[in-house]
Amino acid sequence: MIGIFDSGLGGLTVVRAIMDRLPGYDIVYFGDTARMPYGSKSPRTVVDYARQDSMLLIRKGARLVLMACNTASSVAFEPIARRLETPVFEVVTPAVETALQCSRNQRIGVIGTRATIGSAVYERKIKNRQPDAAVYSVACPLLVPLVEEGWLRKPETKTIVKKYLTPLKNRQIDTLVLGCTHYPILKHIVQHKIGKQINVIDSSLAVAEKLAAYLTDQPSLLHALPQTGRVRLLVSDITPQFESMAQMLLQQKVELEQVRLPVDL
Ligand code: DGL
Repeated sequence: MIGIFDSGLGGLTVVRAIMDRLPGYDIVYFGDTARMPYGSKSPRTVVDYARQDSMLLIRKGARLVLMACNTASSVAFEPIARRLETPVFEVVTPAVETALQCSRNQRIGVIGTRATIGSAVYERKIKNRQPDAAVYSVACPLLVPLVEEGWLRKPETKTIVKKYLTPLKNRQIDTLVLGCTHYPILKHIVQHKIGKQINVIDSSLAVAEKLAAYLTDQPSLLHALPQTGRVRLLVSDITPQFESMAQMLLQQKVELEQVRLPVDL
């Protein structure tokens, strides 16, 4: 199975892209709803959570683990990928590569959680590839709770997005990275507030593409992955909002299974 995790709903944007790019492959998803948001936790706590999430997925049968969470990818990918034998994937690098492909003036904005922005991972990875690039980052800690609440069209959400984007408005950016997997769910508002001429990057397609390319190079792993089209959704706390939002994002009826962390490990 392809194992995918996030703190909550956001990683389902990546699940959707993988279902489209690798149709029929079984997926086991874990949303750590009891402990979200991750973005306001310290790096050490995020590493602990991400390690437990990865182990949980492996014990449930995942043959590879995708951190569909920028926060975990930013602070926990290296320590975890180094220690696990199972292949681990992250979502920051595909977003960086897509942003650099799209940007003409190399002036790139990044929005993400406090932990992601605090890690400066986007700036580092962009400048490693393009030293002349200018990167402007803004932490948007209120957006994840708004998405989890399903406040996708409320005026309050629009006001908050506008306020977060204001510092980026006079930076002459031509590209804005949605550096959190929850944010594509608010892409319509972000695009409207930042301006329609700006490339707004949702990395989920690039992540799915990267995974597909990896699997093409690893035919034995690809053929070992079950293909019954099953998408198992595990959560650490069942909430009605998660269920209805998951149904909307995956466009199918979902059944949530509760797991307890770390006691089920
Ligand atoms: N989707 C997660 C990310 O990409 C949200 C983190 C959070 O729970 O704050 O960073």
